[in-house]
Amino acid sequence: MKSLVGSLPSAVKIVEVGPRDGLQNEKATIPVEIKVELINRLTAAGFQNIEAASFVSPKWVPQMATSMEVMEKITRKQGVIYSALVPNMKGLEAALAAHADEVVIFGAASEAFSQKNINCSIAESIERFREVATAVKQHGLRLRGSLSCAFGCPYQGTVSPEAVADVVARLQSLGCDEIDIADTIGVGTARQVQQVFERVLRDFPLERLAGHFHDTYGQALANIYAALEVGVTIYHSSVAGLGGCPYAKGATGNVATEDVLYLMQGLGIATGIDLQTVVDAGQFISDHLGRKAVSRAGNAIAARNAASSNAESIKN
Ligand code: HMG
Ligand code: MG
Repeated sequence: MKSLVGSLPSAVKIVEVGPRDGLQNEKATIPVEIKVELINRLTAAGFQNIEAASFVSPKWVPQMATSMEVMEKITRKQGVIYSALVPNMKGLEAALAAHADEVVIFGAASEAFSQKNINCSIAESIERFREVATAVKQHGLRLRGSLSCAFGCPYQGTVSPEAVADVVARLQSLGCDEIDIADTIGVGTARQVQQVFERVLRDFPLERLAGHFHDTYGQALANIYAALEVGVTIYHSSVAGLGGCPYAKGATGNVATEDVLYLMQGLGIATGIDLQTVVDAGQFISDHLGRKAVSRAGNAIAARNAASSNAESIKN
């Protein structure tokens, strides 16, 4: 019998954003060694792209103040892209000194969020990014554009697909190799996700678009599935579901990487990433933070492992 269900991509790229998006909102300073070990564990898990740092004002995001040291101390694997967020030329100079493989400029589809997050209008941010983008290209690095509040804004409310497409076009004109459509506050729902991606796809190539979903309203996995149906093949996620944006009050973490990997496994979609290694990394960082991981699949797998090792030790 012919299936009525449409086909999904056979492989996706998962960009691990835990070390940056995940940790940036943590109040207590996390030692460099812990950040380095987390990134090294994620490298070992097989990610092709890890968002490792951000070179922003330490007054605005104190947790990221140790980004240079972190980038110096990680053990890099050939071929893995270690990305850094950069808001301006000062950030870019630091990212170059830190040998970031990819520079991420970050704008917003909402004026209000742009002001709160980077202290300038959308138009001003694009002008600032123009200089950064030119220098990134001169250095032969990859340039990624991240677009916040594509599905709703904590200050302004609704954001239209047209507003998203407008800023995507401006980021595209700067030469972005990849653009992330981000649900910063996790309010989007599946049909809306498809509408926004379908609108953006009229002007930007599908294979260079990424979905970046926070899970505040518990919709992130459904939104990823909805984006898979549109054909999107790049997704961002955060180990243990860490995260939140300091300038989007109440927004919780990104969708947990373990949950995304479990979904992809079930769908038979290749990621090249070892789920068990990510589960262990998630438990490692959660132990350090002194709380349970926000990953249903991660915690279930960790509990199953603990139960079977208990049973094993009773046997012996
Ligand atoms: P400003 O205050 O307008 O900047 O902030 P300024 O140029 O007037 O500089 C003020 C001070 O910051 C100066 O220091 C500068 O040197 C310093 P002072 O003279 O007062 O001692 N400064 C810097 N220091 C280090 N690195 C830099 C840098 N730039 C200036 N690069 C600015 C403007 C953009 C700098 C500020 O608003 C900022 O750093 N914002 C970053 C906010 C941020 O990181 N937000 C989280 C990341 S975005 C996100 O998480 C969303 C995403 O995940 C997608 C999604 O989910 O939506 C990507
Ligand atoms: Mg984010």
